[in-house]
Amino acid sequence: MDTESAPRVIGVASGKGGVGKTTVTVNLAAALAHKGFRVMVLDADLGLANSQIGLGCEAHGNLAQVLHGERRLDEIIVTAPSGVRLVPGTSGVRDMAALDPLQLAAIIHSFSELDEPLDFLLVDIAAGISPSVLAFLGACQQRFIVACDHPASIADAYALIKVMCMDEGLDEIHLIANLTGNQSQGQNLHARLNHVCNRFLNRSIGYLTSIESDETVHEAWRKYRPVVEYAPGSASARDFRRLATLVSDMPAVREPSGRVQFFMERMLAAAERA
Ligand SMILES: Nc1ncnc2c1ncn2[C@@H]1O[C@H](COP(=O)(O)OP(=O)(O)OP(=O)(O)O)[C@@H](O)[C@H]1O
Ligand SMILES: [Mg+2]
Repeated sequence: MDTESAPRVIGVASGKGGVGKTTVTVNLAAALAHKGFRVMVLDADLGLANSQIGLGCEAHGNLAQVLHGERRLDEIIVTAPSGVRLVPGTSGVRDMAALDPLQLAAIIHSFSELDEPLDFLLVDIAAGISPSVLAFLGACQQRFIVACDHPASIADAYALIKVMCMDEGLDEIHLIANLTGNQSQGQNLHARLNHVCNRFLNRSIGYLTSIESDETVHEAWRKYRPVVEYAPGSASARDFRRLATLVSDMPAVREPSGRVQFFMERMLAAAERA
C-alpha cells in the first residue's frame, strides 16, 4: 500500500453505550461508498460486534481466528452490498490489551499484508473508557464522538473527551449529535459540550452535524440494511448523506502513518503501554 492510497482513519466512539456508534459507522460507510469512495469498517467492539448486521453482510470468521493463526485477515474480510469492506469483530477477545506479544505481532503482520487501496477506514469502537478503547482512539487520525441530548450521554462524552485531551494528548475530536429532534438541537448540544470543554479543558471540539431520531433506523436494522440504502428518502438517510459530504470535504489528515498497518502498530503500542 503506497502513501497515495493511505486511508483516512476515523474512530467512532461515544463514552456511553447505545447512543448510535454502530448506526453512524455503518451509514457513514455506506454513504461514502455510494459517493464512490473505497471504505473499510473495522468492528473494534470486541464485546458486542454487530457492524455486520447493520451493513447486511454475513461474517464467516473473526479477528480472534486471525490472532490464533487459524485464518488470514483477507479470508475473514467480507463485502457488504454497498461495497463496504468489513473486518468483522469478535466476541472471543474482550480486550486487545490482554493479547500476548506473539498475537500482537500476528495481527500487525496480517494488516501489513493487506494490499488493498482504501480511502477511509472507519473504526467502530466499543462504549466506555477502557485501555483498548483509548488505544483504538489514539491510533486513529480523527475521532468522531456520538452523543445524544441526554444528561448521561453528555456526561460520558465529556468524560471520554477529557481523558482523550488531558491524558492521551489527542486532538481532531468532532461531535456528531444523534437522535435529535432537529438540526438546531444538535448545534445547541455542541455549544453546551464545547463550552464545558473550553472552560475546563481549555480545548475546543469540532461539530459535524446531527442525525434526527427516526423510526426508519430501527426498520433498517431489522432488515439488515443501512438506512441510507433501505430508505434513502428518510430524514436520517438525508442526515447521513450530509455527514458523508462533510466528512469527505474535511481537510484530509493524510500522512504515511495513515496506512492501515501503522494504525494497527500505533493501536497495539498504546495497548502495550496501558
Ligand atoms: N438516529 C436514530 N434514530 C432512531 N433510532 C436510532 C438512531 N440511531 C440509533 N438508533 C437506535 O439506537 C439503538 C442503538 O444504536 P447502536 O447499536 O448504533 O448504538 P451503539 O452506540 O453502537 O451501541 P453499543 O454501545 O451497544 O455498541 C439501536 O436500536 C438503533 O436502531
Ligand atoms: Mg455498537
